[in-house]
Amino acid sequence: MNIKFQESNNLKAKADENNLGFGQYFTDYMLTMDYTNEKGWHNAQIIPYGPLSLSPASFVLHYAQEVFEGMKAYRTPNDNIQLFRPEMNARRLQSSCERLCIPKIPENVFLEAVNALLKVEKDWVPHVDGTSLYIRPFIFSTEETVGLHAAGNFKFVIILSPVGNYYPEGVNPVKIYVEDKLVRASKGGTGFTKCGGNYAASMLAQVQAQEKGYTQVLWLDGEKRKYVEEVGSMNALFKIDGKIYTSPIDGTVLPGVTRDSCIKLLKSWGYEVAEEHFSIDFLMEAGRNGKLEEAFGTGTAAVISPIGELFYKGETVIINNFKTGEVTQKLYDTLTDIQWGKTEDPFNWIKKL
Ligand code: COI
Repeated sequence: MNIKFQESNNLKAKADENNLGFGQYFTDYMLTMDYTNEKGWHNAQIIPYGPLSLSPASFVLHYAQEVFEGMKAYRTPNDNIQLFRPEMNARRLQSSCERLCIPKIPENVFLEAVNALLKVEKDWVPHVDGTSLYIRPFIFSTEETVGLHAAGNFKFVIILSPVGNYYPEGVNPVKIYVEDKLVRASKGGTGFTKCGGNYAASMLAQVQAQEKGYTQVLWLDGEKRKYVEEVGSMNALFKIDGKIYTSPIDGTVLPGVTRDSCIKLLKSWGYEVAEEHFSIDFLMEAGRNGKLEEAFGTGTAAVISPIGELFYKGETVIINNFKTGEVTQKLYDTLTDIQWGKTEDPFNWIKKL
């Protein structure tokens, strides 16, 4: 693929690596690519990071035809830059595109684009422990119309952001509010995709939960509000009486790369992992009788985030005395050691830049 390069004459000072937070700083360059029905995906270029020019009638602004991905680049102790299972993001983006009627980007083109931008911006991959360069690829419809029909013009953009911890709590347990009224996804909907609309629709519940002192919402199924699905920014896994439970990927839950990696690690350590529907009543009962030993969320941004408290319909259960569990910690340590190149990669997950 031919990628044009436009040099910036205004490079930024790097952000303080000890205070990055999440998603607050952006690098010097971004990659863009256009799609038209006539030319397909074309015009790949790396240009200085900055505002995009859009018609106010752009389809995305009215009908939210947009999908995105989240991945990270890590700096190893030897100062190499590496990615974690990037092909999974390429494929998930394709599956999101299919559901949202957006033209797919071939896997090799997507990976080439990510790599090309990272090569230009490798100095932005932070050095401090636990930090990384978050990669946010996204595609949206630029079609100039307020008519509702399948659009033919799209833009693909990749931006980069040096990040630290996703939650202000760091890797300490978070408090989760189980949402029993609002719904994130239903069968046949877009729950399995990474489309902006899913996140917009979940904002109200998140704001309400935060007002009550909770970090995030745990969603239940859209039909009966009975089965546990996922947390707003991560998949959720629970250790109950020695066995790991997580909701299956069958249409309403995001197929998380970190979720899949944790399941593979857990199985390799001999744990039984049930990817099956389980009810909130079962989970709360396990919390009441002490069988809910650990709970944690998984996600690219959140990595592994212990859950210390669940609130559901007026009842609170505290998990593992609000401390990070043993298995949660082991998963965090193993996964992050692989991602940051501090240990072997037995599953061949790492792709070097
Ligand atoms: C990610 O984990 O990469 C996400 O896109 C989640 C988002 C809420 C930050």
